[in-house]
Amino acid sequence: MEKNNEEVLLKIDHLCQYFKMGKSELKAVDDVSFDIKKGEVFGLVGESGCGKTTTGRSIIKLYNVTSGNIYFKGVRIGAGIRSYKNAIEKARAEYNEKKTAGLSAEEDARLKKELDAFVGEQKAAIKAAKYDQKNCDKEYAQQRVAQVKEKYEPLLAKAAPAEKEKLAKEYKNELRKAKNTKLVTQIQMIFQDPIASLDPRLTVREIIAEGLIIQGERDKEVIDRKVYEMLEMVGLVREHASRYPHEFSGGQRQRIGVARSIIMNPDMIIADEPVSALDVSVQAQVINLLNELREKFGLTILFVAHDLSVVKYFSDRIGVMYFGKLVEMAPSDELFKNPLHPYTKSLLSAIPLPDPIYEKQRVRIVYNPLAEHDYTVDKPSLREIKPGHFIQCNEAEYKKYMEELK
Ligand SMILES: Nc1ncnc2c1ncn2[C@@H]1O[C@H](COP(=O)(O)OP(=O)(O)O)[C@@H](O)[C@H]1O
Ligand SMILES: [Mg+2]
Repeated sequence: MEKNNEEVLLKIDHLCQYFKMGKSELKAVDDVSFDIKKGEVFGLVGESGCGKTTTGRSIIKLYNVTSGNIYFKGVRIGAGIRSYKNAIEKARAEYNEKKTAGLSAEEDARLKKELDAFVGEQKAAIKAAKYDQKNCDKEYAQQRVAQVKEKYEPLLAKAAPAEKEKLAKEYKNELRKAKNTKLVTQIQMIFQDPIASLDPRLTVREIIAEGLIIQGERDKEVIDRKVYEMLEMVGLVREHASRYPHEFSGGQRQRIGVARSIIMNPDMIIADEPVSALDVSVQAQVINLLNELREKFGLTILFVAHDLSVVKYFSDRIGVMYFGKLVEMAPSDELFKNPLHPYTKSLLSAIPLPDPIYEKQRVRIVYNPLAEHDYTVDKPSLREIKPGHFIQCNEAEYKKYMEELK
């Protein structure tokens, strides 16, 4: 299985997620790369439809990735094959072109050999990608099963006869859970719409416990205890367990959504616009709750928002997305101090401040990509303009931004 740097909790590497739209394709996420370190809050920002949710859903494997890789805890959990297929096609076309133009027998043999070797490499990469995409959870479960066995078998061997039965039951329970573990359940997603994301026919207890039960927990006492613990942790009370989602306010529903994620004891939370549907007065409460949980559990958070004001104080680093592309990425302070990409500037100009004088003068900058960039010849890519500050630009723009930074 392909491995990667383990200090980085999540690594997105040239992720592409394309959707078929009749004959054409919609590039919802197009060559996006970023890392999230353990314990970090990474804000992903951009207007509606730019691909934020698709990025999140790709990470938790709700889609098969078109191209690129996703690594979690160093294990490749998502891998697409399109880039390899394209590379094969391109290499074949190049060879055919040369052959048509005329090659000596000797040259032809050499190029053909090179081509075959290259195609072989790409095919091996495709095979490995398909394998990882399919088997990452299975291998992880096998590891967990081995750990449980290692823990319980010696215990059982030396247990007194009176304890044996209880221990054996516990062992069986743990073994079942280990077999059911999926690496991706350590990444939990909190959704934008707390109404649509909670099943109205289930009680709060059933909603919060669902993941545990899927994971193989059968002990009703354990389930109840954990559900109550979670309810209290998110600022609700145990009496709420027997009620239904419609009996709660928007903010409370989002707390239920948070409890449902946290009960899985995740390493990482993807919070997809968790406060966008809430009243402004309630937004801060939910953000504070996430902040508390982050500190308590050392959670790593991918926080998705459509405007910068929400992520400003909460994120360590921010990535700005526009139409499927990451256009700028930097530590939060840096992004607010030295925004370079015109789209980032436009997002910043949209943040209202509680200052009437400033508000009177505030001019919203409108981003018009066609007027801003000339990418007809020199194509853009994501470049590091100063340590940790990345920007999507071509050579001419890079020079211009460098000047601006001075
Ligand atoms: N399952 C899907 N099938 C086809 N198109 C989709 C699908 N999901 C999202 N899209 C499209 O992909 C683009 C990005 O959507 P999304 O990731 O939801 O954006 P955001 O979360 O930033 O608002 C949009 O144009 C959307 O219509
Ligand atoms: Mg979305």
